[in-house]
Amino acid sequence: MLKIAVLISGSGSNLQAIIDSIEAGNLNCSIEMVISDREEAYGIERAKSREIKTYVIDRELHRDTLSQEILKLTKDKIDLIVLAGFLSILEGELVSSFKNKIINIHPSLIPAFCGPGMYGIKVHQKAVDYGVKFSGCTVHFVDEGTDTGAIICQKIVPVFPQDSAELLQKRVLEEEHNALPEVIRLIAEKRIKVKGRKVLIDEGGFEIC
Ligand code: GRF
Repeated sequence: MLKIAVLISGSGSNLQAIIDSIEAGNLNCSIEMVISDREEAYGIERAKSREIKTYVIDRELHRDTLSQEILKLTKDKIDLIVLAGFLSILEGELVSSFKNKIINIHPSLIPAFCGPGMYGIKVHQKAVDYGVKFSGCTVHFVDEGTDTGAIICQKIVPVFPQDSAELLQKRVLEEEHNALPEVIRLIAEKRIKVKGRKVLIDEGGFEIC
């Protein structure tokens, strides 16, 4: 069974979506650990309530060593690292040794409204201010850049002229909760192939998602 580590920084609603999907029998994987870079992240409580192992690696205390500490916990134990609202940037040996084995969810249609400093409500404020008609979320592989890895799945939501950033955030988050478990399931079922920047999904010869 696919063994995953879920990395969080905040509320952990995406973590909850993964837990719910497993409990509903829609996702065959095991959450071996939840790692947070902030002690006060509510997602830690969600993990503890399901007796999932939790670790805190404080990003202030481990500014230069965060990725190494995560590597120590995950090396040879984890098949897939899932960044679910994780705000620190991963680097070095962790990223190279987990090539195509780290995924992230970003709350916009990459390459719009992403990159360094683009997280949380700022992403949605930019989308609303720009006047886009559609936004959404993107699940992608993690490489050395920020939000630059190959795209696995995108879900689209409409943006209305009267939307606030908060309203859009809520609409996008609902789709995040579908997208992330869906991608983990595809990976667990070994239905994903990476060819350069193109991610192919095996659905009887068709690309889905
Ligand atoms: C989500 O919008 C996620 O895409 C972003 O941070 C937010 C956190 O959500 N990276 P949660 O902690 O899973 O509730």
